[in-house]
Amino acid sequence: MSDSTDRYQARTTGRWWRYRPGRGGLGRVVDVPELPTTVGSVTLRNPVMTASGTAGHGAELSPYVDLAGLGAVVTKSVHADPWPGNPAPRVHEAGCGMLNAVGLQGTGVAAWLAEDLPPLIDTGATVVASIWGRSVDDYRRAADLMAGAPAQVVAVEVNLSCPNVEDRAGMFAHSAEATEAAMSATAGCGRPRWAKLSPNAGDILPIVDAAVRGGAEAVTLINTVMGMAIDPVSRTYRLGNGGGGLSGDAVHPVAVRVVHDVAAARPDVAIVGAGGVRDATTAAELVVAGAAAVQVGTATFGDPRAPGRVASELVEWCARHGTDDIGELIGAIHGTH
Ligand SMILES: Cc1cc2nc3c(=O)[nH]c(=O)nc-3n(C[C@H](O)[C@H](O)[C@H](O)COP(=O)(O)O)c2cc1C
Repeated sequence: MSDSTDRYQARTTGRWWRYRPGRGGLGRVVDVPELPTTVGSVTLRNPVMTASGTAGHGAELSPYVDLAGLGAVVTKSVHADPWPGNPAPRVHEAGCGMLNAVGLQGTGVAAWLAEDLPPLIDTGATVVASIWGRSVDDYRRAADLMAGAPAQVVAVEVNLSCPNVEDRAGMFAHSAEATEAAMSATAGCGRPRWAKLSPNAGDILPIVDAAVRGGAEAVTLINTVMGMAIDPVSRTYRLGNGGGGLSGDAVHPVAVRVVHDVAAARPDVAIVGAGGVRDATTAAELVVAGAAAVQVGTATFGDPRAPGRVASELVEWCARHGTDDIGELIGAIHGTH
């Protein structure tokens, strides 16, 4: 398939893509073929996005991935104010997954809009901005500041896996009441909103319903699974924060189950799937379970090209399985039982 100029073209579903030398000598980047999908009122050119917190605040992945080719770049969650994050160590390799407790470090929405967003928009990327808060007012302020974002920010993902300081630090996403309040408070961003929910909620359906009542057009399933690692010799936590969030291969079946069950019970709610997506098969699995689009997170740490590669491979996978319409696959499992 390749030639001496390190370029090739291949045909799939009537569209062309090619590999080309990367910028700055950093290797090859992928031009991603189209496979349009719709999440609520938002149409994306490809169902594959980055996952918040795993692709930087802005254009960091641009040497490796044709960011404009992705469905969207979902940026690291930002707070209304600067936030220092958690003490190191912040990540730990955990068997077939990864534990992290980065703690949502960031410079705040205003600085993000001024410094991180412009270079990302320069790449041609479609952007989904992620916000977080520790109180309902934090969410309101972050969303109001986002109202000033340019049109390339097509949606705001509201990260609800955050401690609510007004409710003994319980997670917003573990409470229907807090989820509805935080989502309602984000209306000021003036854009479609997606609620990013936690698999640790127990019964997630009341949380999904609360997010929709609060104005969510879609739910992103799942954030990390609560976990912990301890060094038994030193009798210390492996992460500076003590506990953390598990992601990667280990959580993929959890994500499939949550997406599947929400899609079965709430067929009218648009779903974005996340959790252990690393190739076309794991992406397609979440789509068939009920996701209209997927996000690639932890796989990006092992391979910074992963989001672009998965986006391209998913188009090829669809062609191999007889379709160029992702709509035929979304939630397809639910017609089979
Ligand atoms: C290092 C790291 C940082 C993350 N930061 C965020 C974040 O800022 N906001 C958010 O909503 N999710 C965050 N997540 C969760 C991911 O977006 C994703 O939901 C989760 O990791 C599952 O997908 P994966 O298995 O593909 O990583 C983070 C995950 C990791 C591993």
